[in-house]
Amino acid sequence: MSMNLGPLFQPFELHNLKLRNRVAMAPMTRNFSPGNVPNEDVVSYYRRRAENGVGLLITEGTTVNHAGANGYPNVPAFHGDAALSGWKDVVDAVHEAGGAIFPQLWHVGAVRQEGVEPVPSVPGFSPSGLFAPGKPNGKAMTKDDIDDVITAFADAAQDAKALGFDGVEIHGAHGYLLDQFLWEGTNQRDDEYGGSMENRLRFVVEIVEAVRHRVGPEYPIMLRFSQWKQQDYEARLVNSPEELDAFLQPLVEAGVDIFHASTRRFWEPEFEGSDLNLAGWTQKLTG
Ligand SMILES: Cc1cc2nc3c(=O)[nH]c(=O)nc-3n(C[C@H](O)[C@H](O)[C@H](O)COP(=O)(O)O)c2cc1C
Repeated sequence: MSMNLGPLFQPFELHNLKLRNRVAMAPMTRNFSPGNVPNEDVVSYYRRRAENGVGLLITEGTTVNHAGANGYPNVPAFHGDAALSGWKDVVDAVHEAGGAIFPQLWHVGAVRQEGVEPVPSVPGFSPSGLFAPGKPNGKAMTKDDIDDVITAFADAAQDAKALGFDGVEIHGAHGYLLDQFLWEGTNQRDDEYGGSMENRLRFVVEIVEAVRHRVGPEYPIMLRFSQWKQQDYEARLVNSPEELDAFLQPLVEAGVDIFHASTRRFWEPEFEGSDLNLAGWTQKLTG
């Protein structure tokens, strides 16, 4: 297969975002932030990627300000003075090295087990108290819980902008909280947040709308999504280009500028009858 790598080295612009090339680093959890505070090790880790030419860095998942957002040890928070000051050092280091950086804003939902930091007694929060179909864990969220989490994402995005991040990525993939609402397997609600795709999308749409409201029209909002779940690699949200379109359009209208399609296997066609993968279809349908 012959490959033309030229486009990778073309600059990219969106609103005020200017990337020197199209090489982007995917978000990868590191567990190197003791006390949930990104320290000098974290600063130098991201600085090195920028110094070596990566155009856009997406940080490891970093938790919004909700008691149940975290699921793992030594994951950096995105709230509180100490953590935000650490992130400010990360942003400045990446900018000095010519890179751009988005934080990946994260809530793990029912992946959280009791006993995990920062407050061990806090359970997992999720649409229906399910880690996976038939596997209960934690509590089903009330409407107040839903509103709290929406506010936490909006607060985090506002802080990201204030710290100088070049945009935000909202983690809607891999079977974590947002994806638990999207996936029928973990969303068995009978209120306006469950049932049809339109209803299952509502929580994510409301998060994007709240973020957009806080950051204004020009600030880039990226949404990561996936068919696959850590709970089930074969799971699917959509089965045809038409269903994908019905999934994406409400998110575009809510304010998503960039979709980050996570495929696990980028070389596999997404639907029969076309070579396009999930990212290719998403670009074709939304631009
Ligand atoms: C060590 C490790 C940590 C990861 N942490 C995250 C994370 O925090 N957020 C995320 O969205 N994906 C995370 N991923 C998934 C990768 O970003 C990526 O999705 C995966 O390697 C497959 O590539 P693709 O989804 O782009 O096809 C992680 C992967 C690895 C190997």
